[in-house]
Amino acid sequence: MWTVLVRAGLRPGVVKPCRLLRSVTQIPQRSLVHQENLPKLPVPPLKQTCEQYLTSLEPIVSKEELEHTKELVAEFLKGGVGERLQKGLERRARKTENWLSEWWMQSAYLDCRMPVAVYTSPGVVLPRMRFSDRQGQMRFAARLITGVLDFKKMIDTDTLPVEYLSGKPLCMDQYYQVLSSCRVPGPKRDTVVNHSIGKTPPSHITVVHNFQFFVLDVYNSDGTALTVDQIYMQLEKIWNSSLQTNKEPIGILTSQHRNTWGKAYNNLIKDKTNKESVRAIQKSIFTVCLDAPMPRVSDELYQSRVAAQMLHGGGARWNSGNRWFDKTLQFIVGEDGTCGLVYEHAPAEGPPIVFLVDYVVKYMQKTEIVRSPMVPLQMPQKLRFNITPEVKRDIENAKQNMNIMVHDLDVKVLMFSHFGKNVPWQHKLSPDAFVQMALQLAYFRMYNICCSTYESASLRMFKYGRTDAILATTIESSKFVEAMQDPAKQNTERLELLQKAVQMHKDNTYKAIHGQAIERHLLGLKIQGINDLTSMPEIFMDTSFAVAQHYNLSTSQVGSKTDCVMCFGPVVPDGYGVCYNPMDEHINIAITAFNSCEETHAAKFAQAVEEALLDMRALLEDTAKAEQ
Ligand code: COA
Repeated sequence: MWTVLVRAGLRPGVVKPCRLLRSVTQIPQRSLVHQENLPKLPVPPLKQTCEQYLTSLEPIVSKEELEHTKELVAEFLKGGVGERLQKGLERRARKTENWLSEWWMQSAYLDCRMPVAVYTSPGVVLPRMRFSDRQGQMRFAARLITGVLDFKKMIDTDTLPVEYLSGKPLCMDQYYQVLSSCRVPGPKRDTVVNHSIGKTPPSHITVVHNFQFFVLDVYNSDGTALTVDQIYMQLEKIWNSSLQTNKEPIGILTSQHRNTWGKAYNNLIKDKTNKESVRAIQKSIFTVCLDAPMPRVSDELYQSRVAAQMLHGGGARWNSGNRWFDKTLQFIVGEDGTCGLVYEHAPAEGPPIVFLVDYVVKYMQKTEIVRSPMVPLQMPQKLRFNITPEVKRDIENAKQNMNIMVHDLDVKVLMFSHFGKNVPWQHKLSPDAFVQMALQLAYFRMYNICCSTYESASLRMFKYGRTDAILATTIESSKFVEAMQDPAKQNTERLELLQKAVQMHKDNTYKAIHGQAIERHLLGLKIQGINDLTSMPEIFMDTSFAVAQHYNLSTSQVGSKTDCVMCFGPVVPDGYGVCYNPMDEHINIAITAFNSCEETHAAKFAQAVEEALLDMRALLEDTAKAEQ
């Protein structure tokens, strides 16, 4: 029933039986020894999850709601339903490599019918580059492409260094899912096809310029990658044969609601030429979008404008048609020095993507174009599309919807320059927990209540682990933010409450990354309930459960060496998406909201976060001084 993710064939250098399409229920084993030795994700004890669930509700639901939920939870535990579902989950955990990963991938991504653009695909904003013309753009793109191909060598040869978290090795599988893969729309559920490991793994990337897609072979016949110089020449040819600006933005179809795109997709690929062109994009190693310059904005607004360009392309008039949003990895290089990427979230989380970015940025710093004599290369193949009246109608429809989405997305990138991880470190506090408490304080100051808050936590200590959630609004965090707003409270008491709140966040982080959080366990129990075809347990139909799952603050830390920031859309209509990169001496924070919600405002929230961070530093420093 849950067979969805399909992987095609095999990776070179790994001896495994050949098969073209493989379902995720038969996840292939990585040959790496460490991968084999990774522990399996545990199913947390039922009673522990139920107790933690009730504790997590305390700051976000009313006393009456909490009392009612306590009764439902007691019934769930005593009446045998909870035990039965738990046993089902434990059975699944014994029988599968990871009881959660496939369910998570489906429920969070592949079943989701909202457009991938804005709603699920994160963007990455890289610092503004110094070029401002087409030569600079292409030189930069050529170096970026060779950097990614250099990274790919480590994947092809299984030499990617294993990452560690809290001293434990992490599952590296996600790195093997991001190149040569693409999402494909389905009538009710999408799939992700990975072409990297077939008999004939792809040797091309796709380049899109002025809405026109090209196949660019990036390997010579002897298997060596093209040089920067060669790629630059090929990009020039692409540029010169895509000067027409009146082309239909076929790629914009991929930004649609998934059911709409699913229907348009079937319609599009009825035509043989279209089908072959779509297949070439899907199979390509990755896509490079050579974007047209966007309207100029002030330096203050520049990062926010780029974040929007990464998330949606700026609208039908601008670069939204210069994408294939289903493609897992799309690097974006604008003629005006803009650069970054957008990635389709189903196969991987942000950290592996940003690790790749760090690698490529470092690679590019040492690579310059060296002109060398070379053999002439074939003209990159332009992908043709036959635009029938039906396809044309679908494109027009997609353009309209994209423009609505563009107008609805409110983005603010805050480059917080006053301090970074250094301040919490000096005061022996976890920087991540410190930023989370600033988000709590900012939200409380704006709305005078606490909301349900989600922070992604890595489960990659476990085989095929993806994420769980740290529920950042706690009894301790609510006491801290209330004290900050209470003029009767002394700073010493506020500081004590901040320290307790940070410690609680740290404890919850520890639990989450060790597989003992509650978000995914509750999801598992719920799906188990659905699969059992019995009536849904009442705890999942309860108001408290709906409140807990309504994440007004959907947050994630994605740290990197590069001075960049990841961004993503809110997960509820009246919420914020907050992604931050705490660097040693500054913090990059990307905040999104929807303009259609009157209560939310990305720039106002950014200002509240800035003030909260500054006030928290003052609290630490003033109290420390007073104690001296
Ligand atoms: N005193 C001094 N130093 C401290 C400290 C304290 N009290 N508490 C923590 N630190 C140190 C840590 O040791 C760490 O040091 P390191 O960078 O040398 O390893 C550093 O401060 C940062 O720690 P902290 O801020 O507590 O958090 P973290 O970097 O461990 O990150 C998570 C926490 C939850 C973000 C991380 O565990 C995680 O899961 N990341 C993945 C997120 C993800 O997958 N997102 C998906 C997005 S699509």
